[in-house]
Amino acid sequence: MAAANTAPSGANSQPWHFVAIDDMDVKREIRTVAEKEDELNYGGRMPAGWRATMKYVGAGPGKLFLESAPWLMAVFRLNWQAVNGQRLKTFFPIESVGLACGFFLVACHMAGLATMVHAPNPNRLLGRILNRPSNEVPFLLIPVGYPAEDCQVPHLAKKAVDQVLTWNRRSRPLPQQRIKEPVHLPAQP
Ligand SMILES: Cc1cc2nc3c(=O)[nH]c(=O)nc-3n(C[C@H](O)[C@H](O)[C@H](O)COP(=O)(O)O)c2cc1C
Repeated sequence: MAAANTAPSGANSQPWHFVAIDDMDVKREIRTVAEKEDELNYGGRMPAGWRATMKYVGAGPGKLFLESAPWLMAVFRLNWQAVNGQRLKTFFPIESVGLACGFFLVACHMAGLATMVHAPNPNRLLGRILNRPSNEVPFLLIPVGYPAEDCQVPHLAKKAVDQVLTWNRRSRPLPQQRIKEPVHLPAQP
């Protein structure tokens, strides 16, 4: 948390709030709400292309991880905050909270902890369950814990750095000449 809290933010507004959850009743309530919503999504609300992508990454409506992880870190984005009695709009809150979450994930990783990034949906309910004020919008829900000894993770290939980096104005080389490890992504919606 100390690392996350040093992240750069627009005008140093630090437009984030983190809620650390280890209470089983709270975790269960969050899981129930998240699963109910995702059953609707996977049951037809989600476009077919998305469903194929979800299958590719192994995601589904079941959210056991929201109960089995010892800790859930709920991250909120502040749209405004009170400073010296004044209601001030925060600066670049999405970018800033994204950076704080990135710092948090790397710090957990360096401490030997496993994390999983979950986008809370429908996101307003999380604020209600955790009694957060209305200027805080749920941003991410991050289960954290030491990995189980027998855990298995999907081996997902990443794009080669050459594919995501351009030097000055040089046009990108043809991807097929530069990809070292092919990435097979399903058709996008
Ligand atoms: C903003 C964001 C939201 C995500 N939401 C979910 C989610 O709701 N459910 C899930 O199973 N994984 C979710 N993920 C995890 C991604 O599927 C995962 O990070 C990606 O497949 C790459 O795998 P890796 O993190 O092991 O490299 C999310 C990741 C991000 C960055």
